Amino acid sequence: MTDFDQRRRTLCMQLLGGLAGIALGGAARARPVVDDANKVFRLDGGGVTYAFGVNGEGQLQSLYWGSALAPGDRLPAPVQVPENSSNEMPVNLTPFEFPGFGGGLTVEPALKVTFPDGVRDLVLRHVSHQADDEKIVIRLKDVSRAVHVTLTYAMDAATGILARSAVVENRTASWLQVDQLAAASLTLPYSDDYRMSYLTGRWAGEFALQTRPIVPGSIVIESRKGVTSHQANPWLAISRGATEEEAGPVWFGALGWSGSWRIHVDMDSLGGLRTTAGYNPFDFAYRLNAGESLASPVFHAGYSEEGFGGASRLFHRYQREKILPGAPAPRVRPVLYNSWEATLFAVDEPGQIALAEKAASIGVERFVMDDGWFGARSSDKAGLGDWVVNRKKFPNGLAPLIRRVNDLGMEFGLWVEPEMVNPDSDLYRAHPDWVIHFPGRPRSEARTQLVLNLARKDVYDYLLKMLDRLLTDHRIGFLKWDHNRAWSEPGWPDVAAPGQQRLYVAYVNNLYKLLAELRRRHPKVEIESCASGGGRVDLGIMALTEQVWTSDNTDPFDRLLIQDGFTRAYTPAIMMAWVTDAPNFVNKRVTSLEYRFLSAMQGGLGIGANLNHWKDDDFATAKRLVADYKTIRATVLNGNLYRLVSPQGGSRRSATLSVAQDGSQAVLFAFLHSSGLRERQPRIQLRGLDAKKVYALRAIAGKAAPRTPERASGAYWMGHGLSVAMEGDFQAAAFALEAR
Ligand code: GLA
Repeated sequence: MTDFDQRRRTLCMQLLGGLAGIALGGAARARPVVDDANKVFRLDGGGVTYAFGVNGEGQLQSLYWGSALAPGDRLPAPVQVPENSSNEMPVNLTPFEFPGFGGGLTVEPALKVTFPDGVRDLVLRHVSHQADDEKIVIRLKDVSRAVHVTLTYAMDAATGILARSAVVENRTASWLQVDQLAAASLTLPYSDDYRMSYLTGRWAGEFALQTRPIVPGSIVIESRKGVTSHQANPWLAISRGATEEEAGPVWFGALGWSGSWRIHVDMDSLGGLRTTAGYNPFDFAYRLNAGESLASPVFHAGYSEEGFGGASRLFHRYQREKILPGAPAPRVRPVLYNSWEATLFAVDEPGQIALAEKAASIGVERFVMDDGWFGARSSDKAGLGDWVVNRKKFPNGLAPLIRRVNDLGMEFGLWVEPEMVNPDSDLYRAHPDWVIHFPGRPRSEARTQLVLNLARKDVYDYLLKMLDRLLTDHRIGFLKWDHNRAWSEPGWPDVAAPGQQRLYVAYVNNLYKLLAELRRRHPKVEIESCASGGGRVDLGIMALTEQVWTSDNTDPFDRLLIQDGFTRAYTPAIMMAWVTDAPNFVNKRVTSLEYRFLSAMQGGLGIGANLNHWKDDDFATAKRLVADYKTIRATVLNGNLYRLVSPQGGSRRSATLSVAQDGSQAVLFAFLHSSGLRERQPRIQLRGLDAKKVYALRAIAGKAAPRTPERASGAYWMGHGLSVAMEGDFQAAAFALEAR
């Protein structure tokens, strides 16, 4: 595009922007507006405005991020920040969009490089910009060396969620090393009442919500494990003042990266708040030869004035409409059965067929055989890597089982853990060099397994061939793709030392490439991302997998908390939840089958119980609830979620409401941990209904309090509310409200 074209285009966009403002009264359309004269850039969409600009020195600075400004509001161009004290260089008080480590920067950089001559100074200045209907692209360059950075800003029209990413390009004549690269820096102006919410956890305890005030200093959430991790999830929300579940400002964001990542939040000495999200700089080094470039992951950032509930509803919508493989209208999750908790590794043809027949009888749609079907796999000590059917367990291969499953009207799914190997396997005996390791150093095992180096081309080719053959030779509709350990000794010895640390990026990129290629070759196969439960849930893997395994913790009460935390960041459309046995294997808690079902029905429903132990009554209960689930699942998975009563903070009660996008149905789940001190149940006021529509109440499980009307207006259910009759321990109720 010539400069003239560019100017003409920008002018057109400005005119359009102005016209849209008049004609639509400022209605949200994500269209970039570029004010060339002042070098001010603006994106508007979904009730949000994001603006930034360039000052006389070429510094790219944040100008505004929050609720939509009027189309005619002019944002003054940024200026150079004056010196505040000789102890603080002005660059550390400048709200940079993408600061390089250089020029005295001591706050968190978005990019840090080392040149061959030892120089570690990078001062990025605006060079050019370009805008089209969807995005603004900014080009920056170092003040003297040919290090170029391209920043992309794309805003989703419906939600105002901004996708930001960066590419660094080495156009010098020699190599340079990238020590640190973020997708973006996002800044918010001074305030003394910011709070940060984020998700931490552990195996069987994922998505624990943490909230703390932001004060001067840094907060770091990260994974150094090569995988997204259970310990922290790459999502955060920043609120201000008295923000609550349904009111108040919330800025939120999540990084789409399934490897080691870091989100760094810091408040500068004058109270400006900066969030920097990208590759984890810990042990990071990415050597770029002349002419090479490195892309960051994408950071997705949004804003809501409607509290944490509003923020998550926006983010859920964005994920459904923009991220998931089925976007903009992802398919609802089939009800699945999984054999893991029932049989562990002891799978065989008659045993699986017996389970499949019972699963089909209650309305299951997808039967998944978990671990144990391949190689010498009778425990977690051997066989990983040998993806050939175990002929002792399946003398005629998998075909007879798959045929039976299909004849029963179900799709067949299979567990795989392609990235791993047990040392006791034919694959490892043939290729001991294929794992991530340092030569001559111990190889730390976890669950008796090592991590294959997927960054290697031969490993990538092997996995593609193996999985392609598995999917070609069998009628498989679904893969549960597991990853059961963190990395250790992150070496890549067959690459020259300066390039070895590329592993952190190259591995994950090859994982994405592998998933994408398999999806291309087998477009009907759906995939679940599992990593010992919820250890690999992020917007990167979500673009390539239809669903995620939320947690190995299937205790229905613990799950309420895990699911509440999960939905802060991610849509229930992908959140799998199983009904398993009582006592639960994780904590020995005993709950009724109905309670277990209702907890699992808050997401994609699965059954993982040992059906051989069920009685007639259990089958009858399950059959009824699976049938009921099918009448509400589109609303539960794809509707607007209101966390009416949160289980956070040890609450004895919790309740969620999901409202269909068209307002035609709403689904209420209510749970009681235990009755105590003759406490009464507060009335639950619903939200998000159409006030004028009449909704009929249908009990799926449990009872409404006596004298609750059978039908009433949305206004009634929201204003007056609904009392649920619950008494005792681990009680649950569910209702559908159908618009008439
Ligand atoms: C992981 C998964 C489980 C199960 C086992 C099989 O722990 O999270 O659901 O698949 O592996 O070994």
